[in-house]
Amino acid sequence: MPYVGAVRSVKVRVPAKINLALHVGAARADGYHQLSTVFHAIDMYDEITATATHDGAINVEVVDVQGQPMPHVPVDRTNLAVRAAAVLRDRLDEPDLGVHLHIRKTIPVAGGMAGGSADAAGALLACNDVWRGALSRDELDALAATLGSDVPFLLHGGNALGAGRGELITPVLSRSTFHWVLGVYAEGMSTPAVYAEFDRLAGGRGVNTPDEPRDVLAALGSGDPDALAVALRNDLAPAALSLRPELLRGIEAAGPAPALAAVISGSGPTTVFLVPDAESAELLALDLRTQAVFDDVLIARGPVPGARVVG
Ligand code: C5P
Repeated sequence: MPYVGAVRSVKVRVPAKINLALHVGAARADGYHQLSTVFHAIDMYDEITATATHDGAINVEVVDVQGQPMPHVPVDRTNLAVRAAAVLRDRLDEPDLGVHLHIRKTIPVAGGMAGGSADAAGALLACNDVWRGALSRDELDALAATLGSDVPFLLHGGNALGAGRGELITPVLSRSTFHWVLGVYAEGMSTPAVYAEFDRLAGGRGVNTPDEPRDVLAALGSGDPDALAVALRNDLAPAALSLRPELLRGIEAAGPAPALAAVISGSGPTTVFLVPDAESAELLALDLRTQAVFDDVLIARGPVPGARVVG
């Protein structure tokens, strides 16, 4: 039965991800690339508030941190949160269920940090609660994988090894908190375009089974930021740099200290700097803001849990 009581709202908070390792294999028959990746959830969150309605409509409103509208973010069926709600409603077989989704975005749009996937994960969790769908986490995971390669990880958070196209995740424990400075660009990058450039640069020579990022897993186990710094690897970085050569200025902006390493996150363009501690993060952020290489500079730490109901 559809829920027909008083208006119900549920708020969910979902983190961004960065990839500590992104090993990319050859394109598969379905166009996706075989990955061996290590996801790491950081304390930068989108908030998704779902309010149940009874008119069968699924609509979405997207605002930035200041509460201002974000007109360049689509609000039709191409919005991944809207698709998540629709897929869940089909699964529940309750066509009369409706929902208004209000998304407050902190995660950069098209920034290589899975912002759209985070909103999909949040919408799944929020709608399952507000519609009293009572799907288990396993059932939500299965739906999440149909929505996008990163969506299952954002339900779980923490650190995880991602296989397949990224949707097959195995949790990985880490011994400590890692500190990051994020260099954010106003202009995003298209993930399919970056993968297409990867294929062009590889000239059909991609490996079918990318190797497991053992050194990143070992660094997480030891909790040693210096070990993690030398292990960070992103196979999509040459493709992102080929499409946007100016990203090199950002990668080189930190200089030798206090940053331990710099890496482009996912398909870019967000560039993340690993630093030894919170104080170094403040120092580096100040330096990068002064240089004005990035449109915004933020501080984050990880790992943090995945999508959670917060109100
Ligand atoms: O899975 P998701 O919808 O987030 O992927 C967006 C796009 O990124 C895909 O359409 C595909 O072009 C590319 N992609 C890929 N291989 C992956 C993940 C994503 O080629 N493993």
